[in-house]
Amino acid sequence: MIIEPKMRGFICLTAHPAGCAENVKRQINYVKSEKLPQGPKNVLVIGASTGFGLSSRITAAFGCGASTIGVFFEKEPQEGKTATAGYYNSVAFHEEANRAGIYAKSINGDAFSNEIKQQTIDLIKKDLGTVDLVIYSLASPVRKHPETEVLHRSVLKPINQSYQNKTVDFHTGVVSNVSIEPASGDDISNTIAVMGGEDWQLWLEALQAAGALAPNVKTVAYSYIGPELTNPVYRHGTIGRAKDHLEATAVKITELLKPLHGSAVVSVNKALVTQSSSAIPVVPLYISLLYKLMKEKGIHEGTIEQMARLFKDHLYAANPVALDDQGRIRIDDWELRPDVQAEIAELWKGVTTETIAQIGDLQGYKEDFLNLFGFNVPGVDYTVEVDEMAVIK
Ligand code: NAI
Repeated sequence: MIIEPKMRGFICLTAHPAGCAENVKRQINYVKSEKLPQGPKNVLVIGASTGFGLSSRITAAFGCGASTIGVFFEKEPQEGKTATAGYYNSVAFHEEANRAGIYAKSINGDAFSNEIKQQTIDLIKKDLGTVDLVIYSLASPVRKHPETEVLHRSVLKPINQSYQNKTVDFHTGVVSNVSIEPASGDDISNTIAVMGGEDWQLWLEALQAAGALAPNVKTVAYSYIGPELTNPVYRHGTIGRAKDHLEATAVKITELLKPLHGSAVVSVNKALVTQSSSAIPVVPLYISLLYKLMKEKGIHEGTIEQMARLFKDHLYAANPVALDDQGRIRIDDWELRPDVQAEIAELWKGVTTETIAQIGDLQGYKEDFLNLFGFNVPGVDYTVEVDEMAVIK
């Protein structure tokens, strides 16, 4: 079929298999061109189909030659109806891994459930024995708790006071003011239940109890801090509480992994256009300005460049770059450079519907957003019929 983007707010309901495949290949070519140090051998990536998780998987597999098991939650295609982008990304990843003779298997299901954890453990035990790196890169709006069966929903709200700031509708380029009411009821605890560290810890406990972790195992989860201007809705908001919890969980997991001389660490990553970040108010406008400045300064990175740097300079470096005073890896260092942030603060004052095209990189934002779903990818002919029924082999 001929596939076109079908937008609904900040999601796209369709995805293009050829465009997704091209994106995956571009990422593979990038990591192959980087000199990565000797890395992990057997890797479990939880949240492996899009964004930072997909790039982590590609870096491990094609940068370090690692065997990977990926867990994700994606829709498969049906006749006349496309799969989700993460599914097509995984189809392409498997094709490339098969061609290169690199072991790769995937499990498509709810990573928060006991069943999927057990299936994953069984697969590790059967095929790999143990894993020496576990990447935790889930981003989800909901989590069904495996014990209580309560469905928790995360929210993106400020705490204690309402928050007003500018935001942009990145489809139309209209800059407007948004006002977000503070969290109420169980908003904070629900957001922590979904995006905090409990599930990460449950995974590591289950893997360890099953003997599926190798000596010196490492595990990494991803966090975000960001600029002062998004603090009320991000780092000091409900999602920030979840990130505080995730970061505190790293200490607990390191304690758990002591007998194996293993360690858990959080990496604070850069703001990037992904399916998750486009849903956060104010953030798309900030990213538009950030992209423009970082591109001008020659320090712009996408998820794959970030993950290659994570492996090279931190996780597997002979002399890793120092952690911050709270024990976190900081690959958001270029985003938070004082010159970048000072210039954004200035631009922020003057950004309007009229000025955004000139002072921000809204075009870059839109392109990246379409690319997430396999659209607007250079080298892909969108007038050609493609098989929407592509499946993971
Ligand atoms: P994403 O939306 O691109 O990827 C999320 C992944 O989680 C996908 O593979 C999806 O299939 C999987 N997933 C979601 N629910 C699942 C479930 N119930 N079971 C199994 N798999 C499930 O997200 P992104 O942006 O790559 O985020 C990953 C992590 O990085 C998050 O912790 C996020 O907070 C963090 N981060 C994101 C930044 C950004 O700007 N996008 C910046 C810094 C950190």
